Amino acid sequence: MRLDKLLADMNIGTRSEVKQYIKRGNITVDGNCNVSAGQHVDPKTQTICCFGKELHYQKYVYYMFYKPIGCVTARTDGSHKTVMDYIKENRRDLSPVGRLDLDTEGLLFITNDGALSHNLLSPAKHVGKVYEAKIRGLVTREDIEAFRRGVDIGDDTLTKPAELTIQKADEISTVRIVITEGRYHQIKRMFAAVGKQVVFLKRTAMGSLTLDPLLAPGEYRELTKQETDALKGREDTDVR
Ligand code: URA
Repeated sequence: MRLDKLLADMNIGTRSEVKQYIKRGNITVDGNCNVSAGQHVDPKTQTICCFGKELHYQKYVYYMFYKPIGCVTARTDGSHKTVMDYIKENRRDLSPVGRLDLDTEGLLFITNDGALSHNLLSPAKHVGKVYEAKIRGLVTREDIEAFRRGVDIGDDTLTKPAELTIQKADEISTVRIVITEGRYHQIKRMFAAVGKQVVFLKRTAMGSLTLDPLLAPGEYRELTKQETDALKGREDTDVR
């Protein structure tokens, strides 16, 4: 790939800033500072240094992030912290896969692997997303049936069947819900359609990827090889 693209992808600077660094000799390829922005480099076989520090370039990177409440699922936002404010390795090409509302917490998968991201989000792939929720009002068997059939949330079509499990039925009920779509405010609108209000929402899994219980809100870690392989190989299968 081009040297300037590699440096910009790694967020060393904007494309024009990295061109300046290259011109000034701050970038070396195999110890040579006589390099050009458009030069093609192979980070697997060549040593690329920036201000004397070796860069470790990985083509694809995969992170699981525990999104806290109050953080926006976007790269930039005028008034709130965004997902990217938490990720130290803030590569220019990283994006969150799917969205969680400002007041929803839990698992966000972040990658620069566009093909995997596309597969996980494609409605045709029916990738299951698991949520824990607290609901104001008594959640009933009728709600389970309604969610299984699909709910009218005011869109052109009913929602796809969702699996609702009641863990505690009370004034504030505790439930688990698995959906395979990602419509805007989907779970809140599904409960609103049966006359109830979501008061807490946390995503715990997406496809084969489960939120690591050791992560606290705002923390993230790289996926293990097993997790990445499972997501790639089984991105069209459902959660347990
Ligand atoms: N459904 C919602 O209503 N909000 C989310 O953040 C995710 C799913």
